[in-house]
Amino acid sequence: MTRGALIVFEGGDRCGKTTQCSKLVEYLQSTGVDTQMWRFPNRSTSIGQSINAYLSEQAHLDDAVVHMLFVANRLEQRTEMLRLLAAGTTLVLDRYSYSGVAYTAAKGVPGLTMEYCKSLEVLLPAADLVVHMAMTPEATAARGGYGQERYEKVEFQKKVMEAFESLRDERWAVIDASGSIDDIHKQVVAVVQPVVERARAGAPLGKLWD
Ligand code: TYD
Repeated sequence: MTRGALIVFEGGDRCGKTTQCSKLVEYLQSTGVDTQMWRFPNRSTSIGQSINAYLSEQAHLDDAVVHMLFVANRLEQRTEMLRLLAAGTTLVLDRYSYSGVAYTAAKGVPGLTMEYCKSLEVLLPAADLVVHMAMTPEATAARGGYGQERYEKVEFQKKVMEAFESLRDERWAVIDASGSIDDIHKQVVAVVQPVVERARAGAPLGKLWD
């Protein structure tokens, strides 16, 4: 049995990740690759509902606590994630642990360092590929709907962008998110296809942050 690939989309708020995740899933399914799209935070669980209340500013939570909730929201899906990947399903994730680390570290709260945040994610599998949809916070702020949630502020998004940049390694592909939807989709397909092939050929799933 060959395994599925773990493909993650990351980027600042309103960068177009969700659109590209959906288009990629549709494309992979049309080529016969068994694929599911997930998003984090998963707001449907009870932990996810607490996160949603925090993000929509209906609830205040300590920074360390909300960080733990985001981590727990991934850990509660861990068994199912590993089961599906092992069964051959490719997962396309709209945000994952990289957002977890980047957004919390960007707050600059003493103790909530990048190293500390990373340490809480080590039970999770690493992405085979992180597609970083890069765009300046000023450009995303000009898009519709920006500013509705807690983190959608240009100064903060700049810090998030810097944090993403410092997390990049050879598994990351950086794509200019300011292009057209179809152009971006073509670039995404070009970087994803070889990764799906490698997973199918038996490349081992990594662990965060080996
Ligand atoms: P998301 O639902 O992806 O919103 P959007 O479509 O606007 O990008 O993410 C909600 C917010 O939660 C977003 O500002 C990023 C933040 N976030 C964290 O702070 N930590 C995390 O672990 C995750 C997954 C997201």
